[in-house]
Amino acid sequence: MRIAMIGSGYVGLVTGTCMSEFGFDVVCVDKDAAKIAALKDGEIPIFEPGLADLVQTNAESGRLTFSTDLATSVADADAVFIAVGTPSRHGDGFADLSYVYAAAEELAPALRGYTVVVDKSTVPVGTGREVAGIIRKAAPNADFDVVSNPEFLREGSAINDFMRPDRVVVGAETERAEGLMEEVYRPLFLHETPIMMTTLETAELTKYAANAFLAAKVTFINEIAALCEIVGADVQDVARGMGLDGRIGAKFLHAGPGFGGSCFPKDTLALAAQGQKAGSPMSIVEAVVQANDSRKVAMGEKIIAACGGSVEGKTIAVLGLTFKPNTDDMRAAPSLVIVPALQAAGATVRAYDPEGMGEAKELLAHVTWCDDAYDAMDGADALVIITEWNAFRSLDLDRATQLLKSPIMVDLRNIYSPEEMAAAGFEYTSIGRPDTKPAAQPRSVTSGGA
Ligand code: UDX
Repeated sequence: MRIAMIGSGYVGLVTGTCMSEFGFDVVCVDKDAAKIAALKDGEIPIFEPGLADLVQTNAESGRLTFSTDLATSVADADAVFIAVGTPSRHGDGFADLSYVYAAAEELAPALRGYTVVVDKSTVPVGTGREVAGIIRKAAPNADFDVVSNPEFLREGSAINDFMRPDRVVVGAETERAEGLMEEVYRPLFLHETPIMMTTLETAELTKYAANAFLAAKVTFINEIAALCEIVGADVQDVARGMGLDGRIGAKFLHAGPGFGGSCFPKDTLALAAQGQKAGSPMSIVEAVVQANDSRKVAMGEKIIAACGGSVEGKTIAVLGLTFKPNTDDMRAAPSLVIVPALQAAGATVRAYDPEGMGEAKELLAHVTWCDDAYDAMDGADALVIITEWNAFRSLDLDRATQLLKSPIMVDLRNIYSPEEMAAAGFEYTSIGRPDTKPAAQPRSVTSGGA
């Protein structure tokens, strides 16, 4: 089995690398010559735990190669995966399909022998058929089938998500295409992964429905958290009480500053746009988009309130900028709303993120970039945790109180416990839980840990 992966971004690179680990010959193709040259030199353009090692082993074995030559790569392949970006189109929220269509047009004349063209990119319902039409028009004699095979990879745990998925969804409409896709995913049969065969449209919609549902779950608990703060309830206990109900499930009920990343924001917008276009509005998804935007704005206000109602002339230490830990991805990160809001209110921001600062520097202005968490705290009036990197879960709290001008901590991910923070001498504000004041006699604590 020979596989060509068109697009060596996040999804293409992880998928291609994992498939070479399965034992297939994989060539990852990209138009970006600098990226391909770097990959050939063993440099990985993204931070994803475990990926660098896997790329190295498979590249050394010769099963994983990189190329800018789409035509040759496609000609040799039994399966060609399209894994190019589908960003939100400005103005209307629809997924921008220009990269997908351009890939289809370019690969069509290069097809040799029976080939399955697999759409991995997240695309609106109907795109698979469009892609088939484009290929047929560009290469009327080509022998091919188009298949939809959405990805469900989470950044930060993408390798494990690929190797041990909850399910694989394949939208294929001929036995030949189904057979080839079964061969691609045969290594997962060992883990008894359910492989669902459906139509193209069903597979395409399953991806949007799954992501929008998870985004709604996060947004739901965020709104419950806001209510908890007003009525004096504890959102962690509410989430646990809900999550123990097997029909609800405990996952994705962790309240925070709002979802971000490369998928939830664009996929909720795209599903809402598809609903409008089809005359079947996705009113829940539309509400999720709005509530999540407001949530990020509310986080800036929450921090200002925790600082006594004003941050004018104050310095705020910010820990964590990426949309979640274990990634360097800053796309739609809550920090991109929160940091400018603090600055607009007159604050100076000192920030640190273990992996995201390279990208953050391009997106945030006038920030003092720090070497580590303690450097960020040095002389600051308050400490804010936006992203729950492990490195922030066991801070030296004595050192923190010494470095900070005032012991104010705003923990937007609930990684510490209010009682411990009070005991350590902090004025502590978290999400959906009562604020705590410093205990009368602070005791020495080196780590928290909810
Ligand atoms: C998501 C989907 O999980 C994955 O299946 C899909 O293919 C791509 O989109 P990803 O964006 O990498 O993956 O991150 P995920 O772990 O799902 O988190 C998304 C956002 O929700 C993050 O901003 C995260 O901080 C937030 N989140 C998640 C919460 O605030 N609370 C939770 O309980 C879970």
